[in-house]
Amino acid sequence: MPDQSRLPRHVAIIMDGNGRWARQQGNPRIIGHQAGVRSVQEVVKCARELGIKALTLYAFSTENWQRPGSEVENLMGLLQTYLESQLDKMLQNQVQLRTCGRIERLPPKVRQILERTMAKTAANDGLILNLALSYGSRDEILRATRHLALEAAQGRLQPEEITEELFGAQLDTSGLPDPDLMIRTGGEARLSNFLLWQLSYSELYFTRVLWPDFGREDFLAAIGDYQQRQRRFGRTGEQISDREQE
Ligand code: IPE
Ligand code: IPE
Ligand code: MG
Repeated sequence: MPDQSRLPRHVAIIMDGNGRWARQQGNPRIIGHQAGVRSVQEVVKCARELGIKALTLYAFSTENWQRPGSEVENLMGLLQTYLESQLDKMLQNQVQLRTCGRIERLPPKVRQILERTMAKTAANDGLILNLALSYGSRDEILRATRHLALEAAQGRLQPEEITEELFGAQLDTSGLPDPDLMIRTGGEARLSNFLLWQLSYSELYFTRVLWPDFGREDFLAAIGDYQQRQRRFGRTGEQISDREQE
């Protein structure tokens, strides 16, 4: 088990590799997405048990709208059934659901169940499960920028009042600490428009394991790896070890 005193507060995951997992077995991609839901359940459970504060899962990107219509529909259907089936569990386990991204672009049925689940779990104080849906980091940064520009243009804000904190508070992740650890499964070493602002100083962990094969052991291995790292934030290694000894 990981060292409880050095747990990441916020873990973000790019859940990638569902399609390849299915194709390897000669199945259609949707089979991979279905199998991926099991990994989501396992990782959420594990994060909750460890006492991690927040888990952000990249489930659907702004770019994913370009996939074939049938795959998009399938993914939306899976999201809907996942949410419907998990509400009781979320209530039992004190999981609070949040989202980031343009959820107004999702089909009305999915939006309704998302909004209902968020409202019902709003008072839960265990794990914050933040689903990135129709999410793109550039889109999020632009929305925040436009909002602040409008405030400034209307005289309610001085440009010099725009600090990192104020800007961060305009993002969809407002109120969450920046991720300490970002995991990407599926073997690609890229960010694919995920949390570009928030990941500035996160520890990055890339694994070849495809998302449907990613489970508790893999999650614990990623956290173990994170705990071996020295986070220097621009300082020297000596400064950090002196501090730790204090
Ligand atoms: C991730 O798996 C799920 C989503 C992007 C929705 P992919 O569907 O991207 O799987 P690969 O990368 O094609 O294997
Ligand atoms: C990133 O995966 C988005 C999600 C996991 C939801 P993609 O499979 O869409 O990323 P690219 O296109 O390979 O960069
Ligand atoms: Mg992919």
